[in-house]
Amino acid sequence: MAKDFPHKNLIDIREYSRDDIMLMLKTAQRFKEVNERRIKQVPTLKGATIVNMFNEPSTRTRSSFEIAEKRLSANSLNFGGSSTSTVKGESLSDTVETLCAYKIDLIVVRDAHAGVPRKIADLSGVPVIDAGDGKHQHPTQALLDLYSIWEHGCDFEGLNVGIVGDIAHSRVAGSLVPALKTMGSNVALIAPPTLLPARPDVLGADAVTSDFDSVLGDLDVVYMLRIQRERLEGAPFPSLREYNQLFGLTRQRDPLMKPDAIVCHPGPINRGVELDSFMADHPKRSMILDQVYAGILVRMAALYLLIGGSNDGIDA
Ligand code: CP
Repeated sequence: MAKDFPHKNLIDIREYSRDDIMLMLKTAQRFKEVNERRIKQVPTLKGATIVNMFNEPSTRTRSSFEIAEKRLSANSLNFGGSSTSTVKGESLSDTVETLCAYKIDLIVVRDAHAGVPRKIADLSGVPVIDAGDGKHQHPTQALLDLYSIWEHGCDFEGLNVGIVGDIAHSRVAGSLVPALKTMGSNVALIAPPTLLPARPDVLGADAVTSDFDSVLGDLDVVYMLRIQRERLEGAPFPSLREYNQLFGLTRQRDPLMKPDAIVCHPGPINRGVELDSFMADHPKRSMILDQVYAGILVRMAALYLLIGGSNDGIDA
């Protein structure tokens, strides 16, 4: 790990203090300069081998980890899903043992099952980054969300953030709520009762409501979540049209928002369901592409802080 960084893994954001999170954001900001150069590469992790084990689909997380690794000059092994010998019955522990025989330096893992990143960390002994496990955690998503909000100029202390939508099945909420609370923000969960977890208080939010319009005008950040249809059993509301009317961030809700409120979404978006295109593409409010870009910066920072390497080239 980088000198003085107290963590070996990034699996549970609740293990990270306010100082740890601020160091991550400030390190990400240092990498912004690298990403604005003509040649966007530094030798920081030259010679390191990183396994990207994605056992579930991903566009943003997977591609931004790969780009982050390339920009840090690491060697990446992209691995996972139906192309591996797990489909022939190989166990997770044998798979991890096989990868470790290659003397790898870090594993990035996404899996449909909660707890797999921790298990891989225990089995392998190498640093692990959770790239999303079941409906449990997605810590680099929370960090890139915080980075985007911070870079926009928001002060976390006392910031009013509303997280809207499918909280029950969301690993994004699982990491974002505790991360925002660590930074001193106020968090409201806004969802139909059928898309709230059985114990919403466990997440640590300040308020829970099913009346979006009653709180929308107080929010500085409106964080919209996709309905995780892949994790749903049965229909949680009568129709997508009704959901859009009650819980979607529609054009009609724009005048109800604070003039400088911003809109975040982790992607992928289901346009016309949780977010209308008017809001998704809003030139002043939408942070969605800033979040995508922040994904590279934060993942470069996480890789650098967890496995160290040289400072060469990043303090231009
Ligand atoms: N936000 C997010 O995790 O997106 P992907 O599933 O495309 O990686």
